[in-house]
Amino acid sequence: MLGKLFRRNKEQVKLFYHTDVHSHILPGVDHGSQSIEQSLEMLRAEAEMGISRVILTSHVTAITFENTRETLTDAFLKLKDAVTDEGLDMELYLSAEYRMDEYYDKEYAADHLLPMPGNHVLLENSFQQELMNLDELLFDMQVKGYRTILAHPERYPYYSRRHKRYEQLHNAGARFQVNILSFTGYFGEEARESALWLVKNHLIDYLGSDMHNVKHAHIIMDYINSKEWRKLSREIEPIIKNDYITD
Ligand SMILES: [Fe+2]
Repeated sequence: MLGKLFRRNKEQVKLFYHTDVHSHILPGVDHGSQSIEQSLEMLRAEAEMGISRVILTSHVTAITFENTRETLTDAFLKLKDAVTDEGLDMELYLSAEYRMDEYYDKEYAADHLLPMPGNHVLLENSFQQELMNLDELLFDMQVKGYRTILAHPERYPYYSRRHKRYEQLHNAGARFQVNILSFTGYFGEEARESALWLVKNHLIDYLGSDMHNVKHAHIIMDYINSKEWRKLSREIEPIIKNDYITD
């Protein structure tokens, strides 16, 4: 509440790009937004930060969130109607964040993926260990014409202790999407340090909010008002390709 009051008196700093490539704003399909109202509140926060295109990347994971094209499309159409009714000027795209697991293997084999514009696919590793055949999967997907984006590489603890692997994966054609929340320390000091390391080594391709709720949006809004972000964003701006996610 205090944060809200504070923000109302101060002009919100805008992000330097207009496309959020990672979000859990689609209602009722994962542990992100749980209702249309929450989704609209999150989208209003995106707009306040200067975002005008949001790619909806709900979780697709074995057992917990076995979403299909149908479940996601159904929620997408409802959200689009609500956005139109609200008169919100926001372009929405339906895609997903795919955990590379046995459910993904099936969906991928069946050609059921929902890529972002330009055939980009957002992929997530397990937080316990890297997928055993990650290199082969990346290669196979690229041969099939997909552009592979690894979601928040800074958040996997096994990479934080092994920075060389970042270079290998990037050389193998994986693009990296870093969460703004990681810079704030929200996911711990290790993730923050890895995010800063990726900036320093020019291994960031996309930034994402990965927002699951309005609280995440408010943390990002506060952070981008900070001096640290002003300095950091000058380094990141020339290498970020968020607004190039197009067909
Ligand atoms: Fe996510």
